[in-house]
Amino acid sequence: GKGLAVFTSGGDSQGMNAAVRAVVRMGIYLGCKVFFIKEGYQGMVDGGDNIVEATWSSVSSIIHKGGTIIGSARCQEFRERSGRLKAAKNLVARGITNLVVIGGDGSLTGANLFRSEWSSLLDELVQSGQITKEQQTKFAHLHIAGMVGSIDNDFCGTDMTIGTDSALHRITEAIDAIASTAYSHQRTFIMEVMGRHCGYLAIVTALTSEADYVFVPEMPPPRDWPTKLCSKLEQERSTGQRLNIIIVAEGAIDQDGEPITAEKVRQVVVENLQQDTRITVLGHVQRGGNPSAFDRVLGCRMGAEAVMALMEATPETESCVVSLDGNQAVRLPLMECVEKTKAVTKAMASKDWENAVQLRGKS
Ligand code: F6P
Repeated sequence: GKGLAVFTSGGDSQGMNAAVRAVVRMGIYLGCKVFFIKEGYQGMVDGGDNIVEATWSSVSSIIHKGGTIIGSARCQEFRERSGRLKAAKNLVARGITNLVVIGGDGSLTGANLFRSEWSSLLDELVQSGQITKEQQTKFAHLHIAGMVGSIDNDFCGTDMTIGTDSALHRITEAIDAIASTAYSHQRTFIMEVMGRHCGYLAIVTALTSEADYVFVPEMPPPRDWPTKLCSKLEQERSTGQRLNIIIVAEGAIDQDGEPITAEKVRQVVVENLQQDTRITVLGHVQRGGNPSAFDRVLGCRMGAEAVMALMEATPETESCVVSLDGNQAVRLPLMECVEKTKAVTKAMASKDWENAVQLRGKS
C-alpha cells in the first residue's frame, strides 16, 4: 500500500486527536501503510522512533482527549534546507509519499515548500549516496493535504478551524462562572481571551455571554473609547444591572496600533467610575481539555477527506487544505488560503481596518 504519514504541528488544539484518528483509520481502510510522525516537523527531521507505524487500535480511545497524542512542536531545523533534506531521507526510507499536516498557516506553508523542493532534495540525496536511484524513481512525488488545527479560527477558507468550538465552550463556561460572583459583589470583570491577531473568540463569546463591551484587533474602537466604554457601563448599571463584563482579545489594539490591554481598560474603569474591577486572563485553559462534539466530528470529517484527497491526487494536483464550507468538508488550494490569511495580517499592520474586516469576513 501507499505510505502515508500524519503529524500535528504548531500550537495544539482540541479535536486534533479526532483528526489523527480519522486519518489513520481511513488510511488503513483504503489500504495504505500509515505512520505517525511524533513531535511535528522535529520528529520528521530526527526520524528514528519518532516515525512509527500506526495501527487501527493505536488510535482507540483518543477521540475524547484534548491536545494531540502524537505531540507537537515548533521546529527551527525544518526552516533550513539541511533540516528538510534529513526529513526527506527519513520519509523515503519508509516509503512515505503522502503527508497529512494538521497545524496553523505557518505549518502548512512549510509543507508546501517541502513539496516544491522534493525532487531537488531527492536529487541531492542520490548524489550523496543516501538513497538509491530506484528509491528516487519510486518515491518521486510527494502529496500533501492540510487541515487547520487552531482555537483562533484565523484561517481564510474555512468556516471553522479544529478547536475553535471547544475554546468557545470553555470561554463561555468561564464567563458564566465569573458572572455569578460578579453579580454577588456588583463587580466589573475584564476577561482577556486568546486568538492571537484574530478577534473571533472574543466577538463570539461577547455575544454568548451578554458582555457589555468587546475589544478586537480587526476593528479598533473610536479614539474616545474610554468615554464610550464608561457611559455604556454606567447606562447598564443605571437600569439595574449588578455587574459588567468586558471582553478583551489578547491582540486588541487601538487606532494607532497600540495594544489595548486588560490592565489599560481596568484603569479607565476604576479612574472614571470607581467600580470594583477585576481582571481574569483565561490563558491556556482555553486550549486544553476535552473537545466538543462539534470538534470531534469536524476532526473526523476533515481527516477522512484529507486521506481521500491524497489518494486521488496526481503529480499535477495542487496541495490542498481541507476546509469547512457551510456544513461540507471541501478541498481548497492550500497556498491560496495561506495567501489570503496573510493578507488579513498585512491589512491590519498597515491599519487598513476596513479591508481587514472584509477579508476576515470572507474567511
Ligand atoms: O494559536 C493558538 C494560541 O493559543 C493563540 O491564541 C495564542 O496567542 C498562542 O497560541 C499562545 O502560544 P503559546 O502556547 O506558545 O504560548
